[in-house]
Amino acid sequence: MNDDTIICTCMNVSVGDIKKAIAAGATDFKSVQDMTGISTVCGLCHDEAEEAIRKLLAERNL
Ligand code: FES
Repeated sequence: MNDDTIICTCMNVSVGDIKKAIAAGATDFKSVQDMTGISTVCGLCHDEAEEAIRKLLAERNL
């Protein structure tokens, strides 16, 4: 996933922003959401956000 890819357009949250939240201690969807605001407005990005966060957390745990 490209760091510049925007996952949530409402809150302008990119893959890189999710990675930063994980590096700063986020461990699940909710904590990434609390730190970035991802998927807190229209909700259309929810499935994509959940998938991206799941993948990025799994990569971190490799
Ligand atoms: S695109 Fe993420 S809340 Fe609207």
